[in-house]
Amino acid sequence: MKIGICADHAGVQMKAELISYLQRKGIEVKNFGTDSEVSMDYADVAHPLACAVEKGEVDRGIAICGTGNGMAMTLNKHQGIRAGLAWSSEIGRLVKAHNDANILVMPARFITVSAAKRITGTWLESEFEGGRHLRRIQKIPV
Ligand code: RB5
Repeated sequence: MKIGICADHAGVQMKAELISYLQRKGIEVKNFGTDSEVSMDYADVAHPLACAVEKGEVDRGIAICGTGNGMAMTLNKHQGIRAGLAWSSEIGRLVKAHNDANILVMPARFITVSAAKRITGTWLESEFEGGRHLRRIQKIPV
């Protein structure tokens, strides 16, 4: 599996920790930046990550900003993206099981790095349930 990851300045440290965590699991990671704590605009890294997921250049994505909302709003402008915001392991499970999120979004200013690793692990291990949830996600695109 290959995962693309991006963060704005608020999520730089969490992103670095998650890259190490994923690599220790044997997962290939493509880093879309930013790698600096200098203030920047989340859309500048979110759009390239979304395009890479849509083109199949990476299998899934992870995006981090302060609240997660800027990333989620930007990523979900892409028709092929279902970016889901998760702040607990149970939501990490549900965002895959019910929403088949192909990008996991987390709020760096509201969860710990340990929590982010647990959420990421749960999301990666969870399976999409299909059935009524497939019908529901098929109604999302405009
Ligand atoms: C950056 O200050 C902050 O606005 C950003 O990380 C994010 O929370 C936006 O949704």
